[in-house]
Amino acid sequence: MKTEINGLSVYLSGDDKNQSLIFVHGFPYDHTMWDAQVNALSDKYFCITYDIRGLGESYVGDGQYTMEAFVWDLYSIIDELNLEQPVICGLSMGGYISLRAVEKEQKRFKALILLDTRSESDDNVGKLKRANAINKINIDGLDAYVDNFVPLCFSKKTIERNSDMFYSILSKCKSNNPVGVKGSQIAMLSRTDTTLSLKKIKIPTLVLVGKNDTLTSPEVMKKLAKKIKSSKFHIVPKAGHMTPLENPEYVNKKIRTFLDKKL
Ligand code: MLT
Repeated sequence: MKTEINGLSVYLSGDDKNQSLIFVHGFPYDHTMWDAQVNALSDKYFCITYDIRGLGESYVGDGQYTMEAFVWDLYSIIDELNLEQPVICGLSMGGYISLRAVEKEQKRFKALILLDTRSESDDNVGKLKRANAINKINIDGLDAYVDNFVPLCFSKKTIERNSDMFYSILSKCKSNNPVGVKGSQIAMLSRTDTTLSLKKIKIPTLVLVGKNDTLTSPEVMKKLAKKIKSSKFHIVPKAGHMTPLENPEYVNKKIRTFLDKKL
């Protein structure tokens, strides 16, 4: 079922009496990147996905976004749906949102699932990459930017093996509003560093990373997991940065086992 909360397109699956599980997608994707997880988990969990502002079908506005505004949006969904301690699951940019949301108010959440993300904010190289990305979109257009960036998110083998999925994701990314895509870059560029708060995380945490992730490598995520005492860490075979799309069977199994054991 689709609903709208605070200008955001929100999708609900499963019985709302079950433990809720809210998924936060990566950049520049939309809620559909979690389709395989929702299909696999909505028998036992109340699954919520949504499009982050500026992306997918959510409102775009003026593109002046911050990570904090993304967190307020997430809280507004939790409050509007009256979710009692959802499990939060975020990939990459969705992980930045999840980490800041947990840093702000850990007691709101039952458990945390992080995929292919990092706690550090951007260093100078990262900030300049984002400036160049915005420039490229302004000069060459969104399609050219997406054609450059999105292939970096997938392992080469996935692109060969599952080219239909890859090209359908690519065209979805191109259908975003460029204002929203640039706004997300600004929000990521100006985000705070959540590394120091990792040791304060007490809720059960699952950390997953693609074996061939070149954007947030297994080394980066292993370090992150080590700082969270209550965490379990797994490397996802046959996947780059987009683990839920590249190896959904493995990711779904790890999430289900984690939730079954820890909740
Ligand atoms: C993502 O997948 O969300 C992006 O790679 C995050 C980023 O650009 O830092």
